Formats: sequence, C-alpha cells, structure tokens
Amino acid sequence: MKLLMVGLGSMGKYHMKKFSALGFELAGGVDTDPAMREEAKQTYGIPWAGEKISDFPGITDAVSLAVPDSMHRDCYIEADLLGKPMFLEKPLTRHLCDAEFLKNNLKSPCMVNFSKRNVGALFVLKNMLEEGSLGKIEKVEIEYCQNWLSHDSMGNWRENDSLLWRISPEFSAGGCFADLGAHMIETMIMLFGKIEFKKTLSMTTLPELIRKGRIQYSSSKEAKYHASLPSSPGQPIIPVDYLGLFDADGIPCTIRCTFISDIYNEATIIKVFGSKATAMIDTTKDRKNLFVTSTDGTVQAIGGVKALPTYEMFKDLVSGQTQLLPKDFPSLERAVEVQRILEEVLY
Ligand SMILES: NC(=O)c1ccc[n+]([C@@H]2O[C@H](COP(=O)([O-])OP(=O)(O)OC[C@H]3O[C@@H](n4cnc5c(N)ncnc54)[C@H](O)[C@@H]3O)[C@@H](O)[C@H]2O)c1
Repeated sequence: MKLLMVGLGSMGKYHMKKFSALGFELAGGVDTDPAMREEAKQTYGIPWAGEKISDFPGITDAVSLAVPDSMHRDCYIEADLLGKPMFLEKPLTRHLCDAEFLKNNLKSPCMVNFSKRNVGALFVLKNMLEEGSLGKIEKVEIEYCQNWLSHDSMGNWRENDSLLWRISPEFSAGGCFADLGAHMIETMIMLFGKIEFKKTLSMTTLPELIRKGRIQYSSSKEAKYHASLPSSPGQPIIPVDYLGLFDADGIPCTIRCTFISDIYNEATIIKVFGSKATAMIDTTKDRKNLFVTSTDGTVQAIGGVKALPTYEMFKDLVSGQTQLLPKDFPSLERAVEVQRILEEVLY
C-alpha cells in the first residue's frame, strides 16, 4: 500500500515512521518548506517531494496529513480530490463551521488521529465503566500536561515555528485547550458517550506568564506575540494552562490542559471516582494497567486489554478491513463533535 505524506514536520515524521513500520510504502511527501522536503528525501528515501498536493505525479492508496491546524481545512479539501482514504490530524479545524463544512463535503473515507486513545489502560477503564464495577460514578478528573513552555524541553519555542504555531493566534486554534484538550474531549466521549461544557474555572495565557516573570521571554518575535494579547477584541483566546468544568453524561468532570506543567514532560492522568472504587491512569507510570483502589484501600493493577492504535486502524481502513474497526472509531463525525465543544470553550 502506498502513502502520500502531507506536512513533513515533527508529526509528519512520526506518521512516516509509524506507517512505514506497518508496511506502507512512502510514495511522496508534500511540504511548503524546501528544507523539510529535502530532509524527508534524505532520511526517509521518499521518491518524490513537492510543494503542493496537486503536483503529486504518482499514484497512492492513502493520504496522511500533518500540517498546522490553520492549514487543515484547505489541505484536507485538496487531498480529498485524490479520492483515497485520509488520515487527518486533530483538532479537525480552527472553527466549527469549517469542521461542518468538511463533514458535509469530504468524499473520501477519513479518520482523525486522536492518538491519546492508544493506551490499553483506557480500554480497561471503558470496560469497567460499562460493567458498572466502580459503582456509581461521582466525579472524573482528567489532565493532559506538557512542560515545553517552562523548560524548553521540546526545543526553543521562542524561535521554533513548529512550537510557536501552537501559541500564536495567527496559526493556533486556541492554545493548549485546542491542542491537548481535543484529545481529552475525545477520550471523554469514548468513555462516557457525551460531554458538555459547563464553565471555565481558571485560565493562564502566555502574556500573563511573561508579565509575571514565570517564563523568560526575549525574541525578535516578541512584538508579534505581545500584539496579539487575548484581551484584544476579536482575537482568539490562547490559553497555555486551562482548567474547565464539564458534564460527562451527568457526571461532573474537570479537564486541565497545560503547556507549563512543573512536573511532567508529557502526561495523561485520568481519575474516576466511583462509590465502590477509584480508578486511575497515569501514562508516565503505566500505559497498560489501570490502578483501582477499593473503599477498603486495596490497590489492584488491572490490564490485559489491547488498544488498537489509530495507525493500525487506518491500515485496516485503507485495506478495506472495516470489520476490524472498533464501534467508536475516531471518525470525522466524532472530530466535529469534539470541535463543537472546543468552540464553546474557546470563543
Ligand atoms: N495526534 C497527536 O497526538 C498530535 C501530536 C502532535 C501534533 N499533532 C498535530 O499534527 C499537526 C502538525 O503538527 P506538527 O507538530 O508536526 O507541526 P510542524 O510545524 O512540526 O509541522 C508542520 C509542517 O507542515 C508544513 N506545512 C505548513 N503548511 C503547509 C501546506 N499548506 N502544505 C504542506 N505542508 C505545509 C510545515 O512547513 C511543517 O513542515 C497539527 O495539526 C497538530 O495538532 C497531533
């Protein structure tokens, strides 16, 4: 099976690694940046690399796209003309109207890479919730933390465009909540069927952090980011730390997403408090086992359920083995539902 890769940045490289390991042959790569095209040719042996999808001269069985959020809508529309299954990145778009436009207009089979569901412990939890083993669910806490703003652990974000687009209103769909929150919302829909936004409990923006001296900031690009303070009318809000209250099918749920965690490089932490037991996932410690603490204090590690990774799901979709896809496949419709919640929170 041949694959055309669109967007050859950090996530595009990861897609190429994953899909090559699953047996896809890279048929070509598209990126507007000549340096990225050259690197992809050298490192991944791509036979063709070009600036536009429409320039691709070869044939392919599938298209994978990993371009910045602000480019999703247009690139997805262009790639759809190839008429092949498409692997799309989250968040689906910057705005709900664009997400709905895609849902109504894309003709090719699509799936969206909500990759934070690629955790076995999550499916153990899903089974336990379905069986009612935790008792009546009282509350849910979910956090997705990264720390690249405070420690530069992913590189110098002041200069590096591939990090800056996540916090610049010009390119970002809405900072950490659109980026990381999209995953958490999808996870909650997967676990509880539906989720509604209630209210924002707290939010920190990049200019606030700079003002308080919490992070060091000096760059020629400084003026650009100060000019787009979220208080300016018409500017989207760009939270770098966000905590909100949601309703997960009648259960109170808090979601926190942050780019400035002092503790974690990258972590998904989920706690579900039930009348019989509390279940916890901490992906920094264990991705396979769910830790269940009963009311008498005993702790059990429960595993044994394999998550079908999104990359493998896409392979099944491309090879026509759709009977292997799970019921709650991360479809275009699911991504639009996630976008609806993002929009309620951010605008
Ligand atoms: N699913 C996940 O867990 C996950 C993780 C990280 C990033 N992402 C998503 O992946 C996407 C890309 O993120 P990234 O970190 O790789 O960004 P990146 O900046 O590293 O890479 C994006 C690449 O797209 C190229 N590009 C920009 N406009 C283009 C266009 N019109 N046509 C072709 N190429 C174009 C850029 O030159 C760059 O090389 C984002 O939507 C992001 O939210 C998803």
